[in-house]
Amino acid sequence: MTSNDFKHVRKAVFPVAGLGTRFLPATKTVPKEMLPVVDRPLIQYAVDEAIAAGCDTLVFVTNRYKHAVADYFDTAYELEQRLERSGKDELLQLVRDVLPAHVRAVFVTQAEARGLGHAVLCAKPVIGDEPFAVLLPDDLIWSDGPGALAQMLELARARSAGVVAVQDVPRAQTGSYGIVDVPSFSGSSGRIEAMVEKPKPEVAPSTLAVVGRYVLPARIFELLENTEPGSGGEIQLTDGIAALLDEIPMMAHRFQGRRFDCGSRIGLIQATIQFALEHDDLADAARAYMRAALAQVQPEQTV
Ligand code: UTP
Repeated sequence: MTSNDFKHVRKAVFPVAGLGTRFLPATKTVPKEMLPVVDRPLIQYAVDEAIAAGCDTLVFVTNRYKHAVADYFDTAYELEQRLERSGKDELLQLVRDVLPAHVRAVFVTQAEARGLGHAVLCAKPVIGDEPFAVLLPDDLIWSDGPGALAQMLELARARSAGVVAVQDVPRAQTGSYGIVDVPSFSGSSGRIEAMVEKPKPEVAPSTLAVVGRYVLPARIFELLENTEPGSGGEIQLTDGIAALLDEIPMMAHRFQGRRFDCGSRIGLIQATIQFALEHDDLADAARAYMRAALAQVQPEQTV
């Protein structure tokens, strides 16, 4: 397999070594990726998306404070025994399904939070020469069809290209995102000609913003090794991808689905509402509570 053969992408990298300062003080002890949306931690949604897309080797880039992530994917013998003994088979299955038997988890450490590009680089010894996926668990993507990564891998195979997930953002917000220039954009995908980190609205080449899903060739590692720290003094994945554009085709894919920025408090709240409404056993109660809560707020707003 060559490093640009996107037919068999089996490895997925989850960079989870960030500090999560926007959720302090909770993230003093609870990693951001372990914050729950309804009854599952954010990381579980991303892992399920990767497995559904055919990945069987999951590489978690953690730091020394994030034992909780490794513990979560480890076997919980005592808990399983208790559930088994008390005949709670459904709960037992839920606990065991956290990671299916055919999937292996590998943990690598990012000693210092030197940026997303650096975190991805830490996965190099496990990825080797193969193309791979990167999923940022705090970008939670809800889809009632195939997951975002499965959609991207289909495009990667069809076009023998790397793929970056994008979504439309209001022009006023381009300064918060990596923005792609895709002159041949078809409405759902197109080849990326350039990529700019956090451009001002008046100079942004488009309003297509990069979100946390990537399909990349192993060549990105060499480029990241030569990437100088960029915005915020961190090694930016965007800068590595920008260097890649001269070498191999990279596609932007506007995925079907809705992305929640669960790295922000409002995003986590929105995701919680959305997923509560998707749960058969919660939807009615959630809807009723939201109606009541909004009704109480209304008089105050008109004062
Ligand atoms: P963010 O930009 O959201 O940073 O990282 P953060 O530190 O997690 O959160 P805030 O901004 O302080 O609240 C985007 C993704 O990159 C990972 C994070 O874990 C997250 O999944 N990351 C970032 C690393 O793994 N290492 C880093 O050095 C930086």
